[in-house]
Amino acid sequence: MADWTGTSQSLFTTIGASNHTSARRQAEDYYATEPKAAELLCRLEMFNHDIWECACGERHLADVLTGQGYNVRCSDVVNRCGNEIMDFLSPDNKEWHGDIITNPPYKFALEFCKKALQIIPEGNKVAMFLKLTFLEGKARRAFFEQYPPKVIYVSSQRLLCAKNGEFTRMIAGGGSAVAYAWFVWQKGYKGETIVKWFN
Ligand SMILES: C[S@@+](CC[C@H](N)C(=O)[O-])C[C@H]1O[C@@H](n2cnc3c(N)ncnc32)[C@H](O)[C@@H]1O
Repeated sequence: MADWTGTSQSLFTTIGASNHTSARRQAEDYYATEPKAAELLCRLEMFNHDIWECACGERHLADVLTGQGYNVRCSDVVNRCGNEIMDFLSPDNKEWHGDIITNPPYKFALEFCKKALQIIPEGNKVAMFLKLTFLEGKARRAFFEQYPPKVIYVSSQRLLCAKNGEFTRMIAGGGSAVAYAWFVWQKGYKGETIVKWFN
């Protein structure tokens, strides 16, 4: 059991680092993304026709992408919406011809970014919806040096990621104070990372 229960106004939310203690995170790290995040991304970036939402949850992002006319492959380790069941990090997962867009499980976020960039062709894109704090940390710094994102779109108004997709409950509990951004890579890009703000 957690030794301090806190509330939505707790220290974690106040500093914008997390909206849940690690002890109480959902087992597969299922936090559904507010669909508006995908709508806004589609106004900012063009993607290949074929997109893989490789940790799709209940398709909160995927449905928006499909609505925008993209052909979206949906997989996840859990079948929540008739999706393909697949461990994205499996060594058997070697190649994908299109782009990749997801909000990955928090605990494997770096591994997801690395894997996504490994398996796509040069020039293709990876867009990951990540906490702004993904910018910090030694391991991530080394990764950014090797693979600089082309653009980071910082969400200037807070977007929600709801545990188990329970947005109503989350809003009733005070919403979120976590800051997110879209990190966009174009494989092979070696320039400076551009930072922009959206919403
Ligand atoms: C933060 S949730 C995001 C869900 C969805 N992408 C969205 O934005 O609404 C992360 C998802 O990753 C899935 N997941 C966890 N480990 C995985 C793995 N190794 N391979 C594929 N999916 C995984 C979880 O089941 C969960 O649905």
